[in-house]
Amino acid sequence: MTSAPTSLPPAYFDEVYRASQDPWGFRTRSYEVRKRQLTIAMLPDPTYRSVFEPGCSIGVLTAMLAQRSERLLAMDISARALEIAAAGLPSHVELRQGTLPDDWPDEQFELVLLSEVGYYLGQDDCERMAELAARSARDLMAVHWRHPVDDYPLSGDQVHSILEDAAQANKLRPLIHHIEEDLRIDLWSADGRSVARRSGLLPSVA
Ligand SMILES: C[S@@+](CC[C@H](N)C(=O)[O-])C[C@H]1O[C@@H](n2cnc3c(N)ncnc32)[C@H](O)[C@@H]1O
Repeated sequence: MTSAPTSLPPAYFDEVYRASQDPWGFRTRSYEVRKRQLTIAMLPDPTYRSVFEPGCSIGVLTAMLAQRSERLLAMDISARALEIAAAGLPSHVELRQGTLPDDWPDEQFELVLLSEVGYYLGQDDCERMAELAARSARDLMAVHWRHPVDDYPLSGDQVHSILEDAAQANKLRPLIHHIEEDLRIDLWSADGRSVARRSGLLPSVA
């Protein structure tokens, strides 16, 4: 009997960041630039008072998110990634080293953004993280690559399915669902109003 894969350990990411300062080509790949633009464009609100971005890596998406946040807590398992991130971020961004799901902060956030981080967790840890995310977020957004990667315990689609269950259990409603061959973006919210209703273009009561 084979046991289920567990979350990738800190040593895995230490090695990744030893090999490269930008292991996923966030600064250089047009794919990554477009995905960040899509992610930011899909945020329902123009600004958020409190945001949590776990798995922030070297802070490239973090820098864009910072422009839409009054306070942004960005976390990563890798101290090296955070050192690189620190060089380019404004002072309202707090960088914190921590491992999901154990170090999930005991706080409520207007927005939680899980971008390309859920599939490094084993099934049990991902379920715990999804529950914590659904309990602490008003808007819960997830962005993941959909193709299989040998080392990763879960696929992007599996992560979104786990998040969907946690969102439903915590009465978050699906607001945005974008799917392509390569990636998907989902957003669930405790505020079930459409973007037009939230922003006053349509009346709030349907
Ligand atoms: C692919 S990068 C995503 C960067 C950024 N969120 C984006 O989408 O542009 C994934 C990051 O997640 C971090 N990570 C992986 N497992 C983690 C865990 N259990 N807890 C916290 N961070 C983790 C890795 O160190 C890496 O920096």
